[in-house]
Amino acid sequence: TKEVGNIEDAFLKLKKEKNAVLMAHFYQENKIQDIADFVGDSLALAQFAAKTDAEIIMVAGVHFMGESAKILSPEKTVIVPDLNAGCSLADSCPPDVFAKFIKQYPDHKVITYVNTSAEIKALSDIVVTSTNAKAIVDSFPKDEKLIFGPDKNLGNYINSITGREMLLWDGACHVHEKFSLEKILEIKDSNKDAEILAHPECKKQLLMVADHIGSTAALLNYSSTSSSQKFIVATESGIIHQMKLKSPNKTFIPAPPNDSTCACNDCEFMRLNTMDKLYNALKFGWPTIEVDEAVRVKAVKPIERMLDISN
Ligand code: 13P
Ligand code: SF4
Repeated sequence: TKEVGNIEDAFLKLKKEKNAVLMAHFYQENKIQDIADFVGDSLALAQFAAKTDAEIIMVAGVHFMGESAKILSPEKTVIVPDLNAGCSLADSCPPDVFAKFIKQYPDHKVITYVNTSAEIKALSDIVVTSTNAKAIVDSFPKDEKLIFGPDKNLGNYINSITGREMLLWDGACHVHEKFSLEKILEIKDSNKDAEILAHPECKKQLLMVADHIGSTAALLNYSSTSSSQKFIVATESGIIHQMKLKSPNKTFIPAPPNDSTCACNDCEFMRLNTMDKLYNALKFGWPTIEVDEAVRVKAVKPIERMLDISN
């Protein structure tokens, strides 16, 4: 038998033995992206989880991504490397408070971003990601009253490009909110040929100066098709790995945050996942993601509605 040389090889061997697949979000560390069966944005990961034949789905991302996979494929075992990999945006929307909020507006349809708990999805009419949010909002009749949550920045942005006045929940992602507009403009000033790429979870002031706004998949696609050779990237820096793979000769500058403690904006939840944790989680079949069946049957409908529109 072949000697196992390193953790990546050991993981790949185990993955085969256990009939597992590994899907990873673009914000994972490079090594994890490189050994994953599939790397994608939130929408692509949900689409992949809904279709895979594997018995075990390993999710290298954050908790809500594991939950979406389990909601869509309840018969599969869904394993995450670290249950503490949460999401500040999902946490900004507690289900009991959101339930009270939407109860005040019974004539409104409820649209929620995928970065939420299963309980929030169960309260929603439809789920969206950054990739399909505009198309899904556009699919509602113009006079339909809409609530959008939890991300106020994405909600504001979608309102601005659709001409809607959706009622917004006051939530945000701490990673995308802390980019420094001032520092970004300084970098732009000394790199006039650079284009600013921004995720719609960023604040409005930053989106106003961005050359291109989109989900991680949309920004990646734009960076490889644009004739520009230099980009200032205002989203989690993990995406730069795929950008460089697609465009090895282009320059990617991670947008700096307000605080000076780190050079770029990493999501500490996403970065809790490591190769060692992935290996151990698969070996011991733990921790798994479990979703209460009563919640799951309600939560699956708005996700499937989204997938139907997006396919
Ligand atoms: P997308 O990859 O869908 O753009 O989402 C970004 C994000 O913050 C995921 O947590
Ligand atoms: Fe959540 Fe923000 Fe991290 Fe994405 S980057 S997982 S929205 S905390």
